[in-house]
Amino acid sequence: MRAYYFDNVPGDQRLPHDYNPSRLVSSETLSSIGVKYWTIPVPGYESQVDAIAKERGYKNRDMINVSKEGMGDIYEEKIRGFFQEHMHEDEEIRYVLSGSGFFDVRETPTDSWIRLAVEPGDLLVIPAGIYHRFTLDEQDNIKALRLFQDEPKWVPHNRSNETDINPHRIQYLKTIGVGA
Ligand SMILES: [Fe+2]
Repeated sequence: MRAYYFDNVPGDQRLPHDYNPSRLVSSETLSSIGVKYWTIPVPGYESQVDAIAKERGYKNRDMINVSKEGMGDIYEEKIRGFFQEHMHEDEEIRYVLSGSGFFDVRETPTDSWIRLAVEPGDLLVIPAGIYHRFTLDEQDNIKALRLFQDEPKWVPHNRSNETDINPHRIQYLKTIGVGA
């Protein structure tokens, strides 16, 4: 997984949006904002993913397959939806089996976007309460496992004054040592 600051240049969200030269983001910075990740080779991934799932209490999982080919006309609208800045009250956990895409996470307190370019073998945990968004890249396809603790609550809360005071947001800020 490659992590770098998003360049904020308007244009297609599927382009890399990498500064020239790149402004890479260290694993320490990712850890300081609560983002966790592992690299697990796809062939024979089950035992390692199962071990992490067991340790972190991810009891359930399903698989998603998002592609331009498979979705036809609704694809463009769908990926614009994924790109709305939002938070969840649960962790968002993805293991990429094929294809690729970009998760953008907000660094706090700078409010800069950090782009996480994920590819097969990346297991990514986005903490509850962090603002983020997702897009496919120019390959236009990704297949990933979604893991979750109990019942999936896939509710995205779009960023607003209300989400700024959501208890899960407040808890997140406490966890990373920012704010109250
Ligand atoms: Fe999300």
